[in-house]
Amino acid sequence: MRLRKKKGVEELLTTFPNVITNSNEYRGQWKELFLNDYPIHLEIGMGRGGFLAALSKKHPLVNYIGMERVATLVYDAVIRLGDIHPDNLKFIWNNALNIEDIFAPSEIDRIYLNFSDPWPKARHAKKRLTHRGFLEKYEEILKPQGEIHFKTDNEGLFLFSIDEFKEKNWTLKNISYDLHKENMEDNILTEYEKRFITQGKKIFRLEAVSPKK
Ligand SMILES: C[S@@+](CC[C@H](N)C(=O)[O-])C[C@H]1O[C@@H](n2cnc3c(N)ncnc32)[C@H](O)[C@@H]1O
Repeated sequence: MRLRKKKGVEELLTTFPNVITNSNEYRGQWKELFLNDYPIHLEIGMGRGGFLAALSKKHPLVNYIGMERVATLVYDAVIRLGDIHPDNLKFIWNNALNIEDIFAPSEIDRIYLNFSDPWPKARHAKKRLTHRGFLEKYEEILKPQGEIHFKTDNEGLFLFSIDEFKEKNWTLKNISYDLHKENMEDNILTEYEKRFITQGKKIFRLEAVSPKK
């Protein structure tokens, strides 16, 4: 059952073991929350969380955190898990704008950005999740040589992002201008990606390695 726009979804989120609504309180302590030393991979803007639900099943020795600013989407994500509450998957209801208040320096091993909002108007460039302002924050919370894996259907955002990564001295690898033309065995489809494929859209993808030593 969807609770879109239904009042009280925020309160409801506090009742799910896999949802963290007070994420700032875990800054520097995410490993303690997971009760292990496994690497932590974070998806920013996870939407309904299908990508991380699949990844967490496939890689039980990695801890996954999905961050989403829209409460109803976090609710959908946790409901879709059904009765399964994976130990290695947490959803955060929060905004990445203040990500440095949620994670301590070097606390995260990898960040996924999947089909981030493109914010096509130039005056909104700072809101793009690959704007250099965000890249500086990601560099801080990622461990040295930590990676960002980025997928988008939006060529303009992709080209902008390449420039931003280069400007901030990230190393780019595995750049694809048409992901689904290639044989990328390990690719897990996100909800938006499934939709774009049926529309015949090209998917762009890259991996960026942090310059932090
Ligand atoms: C286009 S959707 C993509 C959803 C999902 N990653 C996928 O590929 O199916 C972008 C998502 O990012 C979320 N988002 C955008 N900016 C955000 C921010 N600053 N912090 C957290 N979530 C954000 C939006 O609410 C939306 O759910």
